[in-house]
Amino acid sequence: MIGDGRGFLRFLIVSSLAVLQLVEADSSPYFEPFNVSYDHRALILGGKRRMLTSAGIHYPRATPEMWPDLIAKSKKGGADVVQTYVFWNKHEPVRGRYYFEGRYDIVKFAKVVGAAGLYLHLRIGPYVCAEWNFGGFPVWLRDIPGIKFRTDNAPFKEEMERFVKKIVDLMLEEMLFSWQGGPIIMLQIENEYGNIESSYGQSGKNYVKWAAEMALGLGAGVPWVMCRQDDAPGSVINACNGYYCDGFRPNSGSKPTLWTEDWDGWFASWGGRLPHRPVEDLAFAVARFFQRGGSFQNYYMYFGGTNFGRTSGGPFYITSYDYDAPLDEFGLTSQPKWGHLKDLHSSIKLCERALVSSVSAHYVKLGPMQEAHVYNETEGKCSAFIANIDEHKYATVHFLGKTYSLPPWSVSILPDCKNVVFNTAKVSSQTSIKSRAVDQGLPLNLSPGQKLRDTQAYFSQSWMGLTEPINLWSNDTFTVQGILEHLNVTKDHSDYLWYFTRIHISGDDVAFWEENKISPTIEIDSMRDVFRVFVNGQLAGSVVGHWVKVAQPIKLLQGYNDLVLLTQTVGLQNYGAFLEKDGAGFRGKVKFTGFKDGDMDLSNLSWTYQVGLSGEFLKIYSVEENEKVEWTDVVTGDSPSTFTWFKAHFDSPEGTDPVALNLGSMGKGQAWVNGHHIGRYWNRVAPKDGCRKCDYRGPYNSDKCMTNCGKPTQTRYHVPRSWLKASDNLLVIFEETGGNPSDISIERHYSEIICGTVSETHYPPLHKWTKPDPLPVTISIDDLTPEMYLECEQGYVIGSIEFASYGTPDGSCPNFQRSSCHAANSEHLVKEACEGKNSCSIKISNARFGGDPCRGIVKTLAVQARCISSTSSRLLVSNFK
Ligand SMILES: *[C@@H]1O[C@H](CO)[C@@H](O)[C@H](O)[C@H]1NC(C)=O
Ligand SMILES: *[C@@H]1O[C@H](CO)[C@@H](O)[C@H](O)[C@H]1NC(C)=O
Ligand SMILES: *[C@@H]1O[C@H](CO)[C@@H](O)[C@H](O)[C@H]1NC(C)=O
Ligand SMILES: *[C@@H]1O[C@H](CO)[C@@H](O)[C@H](O)[C@H]1NC(C)=O
Ligand SMILES: *[C@@H]1O[C@H](CO)[C@@H](O)[C@H](O)[C@H]1NC(C)=O
Repeated sequence: MIGDGRGFLRFLIVSSLAVLQLVEADSSPYFEPFNVSYDHRALILGGKRRMLTSAGIHYPRATPEMWPDLIAKSKKGGADVVQTYVFWNKHEPVRGRYYFEGRYDIVKFAKVVGAAGLYLHLRIGPYVCAEWNFGGFPVWLRDIPGIKFRTDNAPFKEEMERFVKKIVDLMLEEMLFSWQGGPIIMLQIENEYGNIESSYGQSGKNYVKWAAEMALGLGAGVPWVMCRQDDAPGSVINACNGYYCDGFRPNSGSKPTLWTEDWDGWFASWGGRLPHRPVEDLAFAVARFFQRGGSFQNYYMYFGGTNFGRTSGGPFYITSYDYDAPLDEFGLTSQPKWGHLKDLHSSIKLCERALVSSVSAHYVKLGPMQEAHVYNETEGKCSAFIANIDEHKYATVHFLGKTYSLPPWSVSILPDCKNVVFNTAKVSSQTSIKSRAVDQGLPLNLSPGQKLRDTQAYFSQSWMGLTEPINLWSNDTFTVQGILEHLNVTKDHSDYLWYFTRIHISGDDVAFWEENKISPTIEIDSMRDVFRVFVNGQLAGSVVGHWVKVAQPIKLLQGYNDLVLLTQTVGLQNYGAFLEKDGAGFRGKVKFTGFKDGDMDLSNLSWTYQVGLSGEFLKIYSVEENEKVEWTDVVTGDSPSTFTWFKAHFDSPEGTDPVALNLGSMGKGQAWVNGHHIGRYWNRVAPKDGCRKCDYRGPYNSDKCMTNCGKPTQTRYHVPRSWLKASDNLLVIFEETGGNPSDISIERHYSEIICGTVSETHYPPLHKWTKPDPLPVTISIDDLTPEMYLECEQGYVIGSIEFASYGTPDGSCPNFQRSSCHAANSEHLVKEACEGKNSCSIKISNARFGGDPCRGIVKTLAVQARCISSTSSRLLVSNFK
């Protein structure tokens, strides 16, 4: 049934086409076709059990131009698999009309993964959560009569099946399944339904069965998983998500232990702190998972990226989806996270043969909180993991005749059951300190003698402005009695919904207010996300919240008053049961209180409805349309204007470094570059408290290690390089609350300082033992000598060594100091080995440094180096002074 004639014919056609289109690198097959199955121990790829590491990357959170580099960095970091969700709302923006272009070209993404030699885990859902707008559901789904999402409901099941089949058929047609020579080894149906299933009673149970049978019936020919679904039926594998999954077991003895979401960080909300997960704890969680029988682990996220446009979910998720992932939002490696995990993956790879050939681990108790799991290979070789789960204390354990010391909350990995090659708490990988530069570029049209401040350097003309009208401008308004539900009107084509009415105020009421020194108050039972009220053209109040009560006093005049209400969404709900009922805007009563004769029910009035902004409607953010409206010069120093559009042109920073807009001087709004929607921005500040020094030891949760207290949650907004031209880029901003555009700057992001700290007691270098199948037959003493490995980002070289000391240096990056124990030739040696190179390594031994600088003490090499661009030395001179 699987490899049918259609596929074979297609293969022949592709092969002959490949001859015609000579350099068609991205065409199937990428692999010798192989089947995927599984047993209790692992996924079985082409007949072989595998231990797999997977990198979560969501294709629309980057650009197609970024995909190859992100995937190459995932592979270099030790990933075997890339995992992504599929984003229904963007693939089917209008019912029955599909979109697979640009950032949504999922076929191209799969091909880039295949071309890199990695496998793909496609999580179709089609509910995905993902902190993505409406959890990935198209908003039109709400309008289907009788629909109830994610339950035994015929209209929903029909839509869901149609979309899932569409995706599976697309992948089949493009020959992207493993048995067709493509990268896809596994799929997912539904997502985290176990969390909400009980809300749906028996219908929920029926739905799970239906979803599994429907998926299995599509002829994809690879295993399906359900993430967080204890009752996953039949051959569908229930997989784990969380910070730790080493205690997890699937619901059948014939299914392997898979970890579909290893939360290596967390997302952030506007006005929230930034979460950070220490890599020592993350590595501990992963090592424990493989130690205790796990076989597939996916980092959620390996690269988080950016919620461009209006794709971020809610309530209130920020535009950055950095996630504290090993690859940062811009695609730069976050060190030491990326490097330490790379070492971890290498050491797990060294154990793979033993791990897959054992039916199960041999358990050895070593102490009250210490244990080993031994995996014996058939030929007598073995690999072992030794854990110290004590959160506080070091432990010394005896194992197979040797003594080992383990830091608290750590796992040591012994690929040969004798030599430790890795400990999760000992980081040998380099750290890096990222820098941002606002270069002095060459602005266009600069008149003689005109000077620009640093931050304006890129802007080639002064800012222009345009006021967004707070009145009826649309030819598409309608008037009805009553308050309509926000999404029912906007269909989420815009964040903004305007409600216009006119009310008459009698002299009696005005006298009543004056007499009692009160104001009439607009009261709303419940509101999300942002509410604003305008009276007679003036903003009279704003409220921000998630289903909060509103009581906003306002001033009304005798006679007729124009009353305008505005409700705004900041990302639709993406999690929870009954999403179809969640909606936006108002819930319950909307009324005026404080009138002489009692309350005024505003839902009894006639309201005129208008969706969106006039600037959105006219597409004035686009290169084609922005000249069609009349912009006026903005005089810097003007008081900040609310509901204003701004535009300016700027030159791109030279080189290839990632670029960001710094919008720290602005209030709240949205930004576009050359018509590309960069996302929402908002200068909301995180609470002052709740950030503390983070200890990796002990169970992690998303509140444990917060940074950025008292600062705006996000001020920098990624502008992908592929959206930029060398010069004359159009930046358009819609500002709601007021800000100063002349302080907006364009930044280059890069890793400037890299540091290493490796001591004699660290473990051997793993970077040379990467895939494929690296297990050395015997490990020599030389192999076991620790090494410092330093590497600049691509396009950079080590320009200078700013500190180097072999001995007992104090301090930490970027503030090291020498101590009395210091090998005199340290700096010279490191310079010789590293300067001018993209990467270098130095063995940590007395011999290498010309003798022992202090006997009987553990020596450490600490190095601080500066990376400089290998191409553009002109920039370096101006930036690094
Ligand atoms: C995959 O399995 C199917 C069904 O068992 C079989 O017909 C096919 O030849 C297998 N393909 C490969 C590449 O092993
Ligand atoms: C695996 O190795 C351990 C340690 O060498 C030994 O005690 C155990 O009996 C072995 N188990 C199997 C199943 O070979
Ligand atoms: C509104 O104007 C636009 C463009 O000016 C036009 O395409 C559209 O048909 C008009 N709609 C109505 C309802 O008149
Ligand atoms: C939204 O519109 C649908 C009909 O299109 C209606 O059934 C539903 O009650 C409306 N929702 C609200 C909250 O008004
Ligand atoms: C609002 O209108 C309804 C009928 O449409 C009426 O029953 C109700 O009394 C009115 N309420 C107020 C406060 O005017």
